[in-house]
Amino acid sequence: MIYLDNAATTFPKPESVYENINKAMREYGANPGRSGHKLALQGGRAIYETRELLGNLFNIDNPMNIIFTHNGTDGLNLAIKGLLKPGDHVITTSMEHNSVLRPLKAMEKVGVKTTIVECDKIGLIDLKDIENSINDDTKLIVTTHASNVTGTIFPVKEIGDLAEKNNIVYMVDVAQSAGVYEIDVKDMKIDILVFPGHKALLGPQGTGGVYIRKGLDIMNMKEGGTGSKSNLLIQPQMLPDKFESGTPNTPGIVGLGAGVEYILDRGLESIRNHEKELTRYFINELKKIEAVKIYGPKDAEKQAAVISINIGDEDSSEVSYILDKVFNIAVRPGLHCAPLAHKTIGTFEQGTVRFSIGPFNTHQDIEKAVQAVGKIVKQI
Ligand SMILES: Cc1ncc(COP(=O)(O)O)c(C=O)c1O
Repeated sequence: MIYLDNAATTFPKPESVYENINKAMREYGANPGRSGHKLALQGGRAIYETRELLGNLFNIDNPMNIIFTHNGTDGLNLAIKGLLKPGDHVITTSMEHNSVLRPLKAMEKVGVKTTIVECDKIGLIDLKDIENSINDDTKLIVTTHASNVTGTIFPVKEIGDLAEKNNIVYMVDVAQSAGVYEIDVKDMKIDILVFPGHKALLGPQGTGGVYIRKGLDIMNMKEGGTGSKSNLLIQPQMLPDKFESGTPNTPGIVGLGAGVEYILDRGLESIRNHEKELTRYFINELKKIEAVKIYGPKDAEKQAAVISINIGDEDSSEVSYILDKVFNIAVRPGLHCAPLAHKTIGTFEQGTVRFSIGPFNTHQDIEKAVQAVGKIVKQI
């Protein structure tokens, strides 16, 4: 199987991820942060180490400002619903995933107003359109860092500067960039950073997190046991306990830590260059096949390793089915949970066939994918 569905979940993972999950379950599978015995303490330490590693990766000073969640969606809901109040105005973009758009839509019912800034045909945002949408009630700007449909990279630093200048909270969904691109919350003026653990951070499914800048007031939506201040009937307000009620996913978080450690060891630049090289080659080869329509920037410098295509008017599900069944190549068809992005690039009806490259794909994988697309074109 050639796996080119890394934008959904990366596969495989580094060997150390499997090993550390196994070790967490077999050697210290106790409940961390609760009982004071050796195994519980070991679990608590292992979770803290993952927080520290993520802090290193994103230039976050205090690892306690990182909250673990079940996935990216969980983190986006926590931050969007916890931050916004009736009367607040939010600016977002037409390239967002439903895990941003649906919570915002839900918040409209309680009086939150949303402006969705339209991106251009390749998924690029114009900073001026964001600036022109700011009003006195604008509390939040939320954008993706890289589109999960076209890979288009967003000018996060410039948007961060604009948000800071206007005293607006900036939240970034780094689902498609964390683990490949430099993310520095201080330099980019990011107040809230939301990341799934199971994509390019190379952790297992069931992991993700949110960084919340010190001093930002976000309401918790869950209350429960935290292992801290157990004498009180009210939720502790210190981070991360405020948002981390209930037994954590210790094996998952430890696995995520191993994924981040792999990234830090191999180096972001090395991973990025590897993926860029394969993306560049893939796009150049696809351009030579006449019936293939490529969406997005078509430039490895301007997009993440996410390449959306169509073959003529062929249904994207049909093409993906053939790639899987005949060529043993895993990709994703359809709308990729981002309907407005498809309206933006003009593929709402057809969807796209999305190839997404990960750190363990090889040149040969991409050659085979190009050959497969070429053969499908000839047969249709
Ligand atoms: C851009 C983007 N945001 C958010 C998400 C949601 O992440 P999760 O599936 O971990 O909830 C995804 C997942 O595909 C995504 O691509």
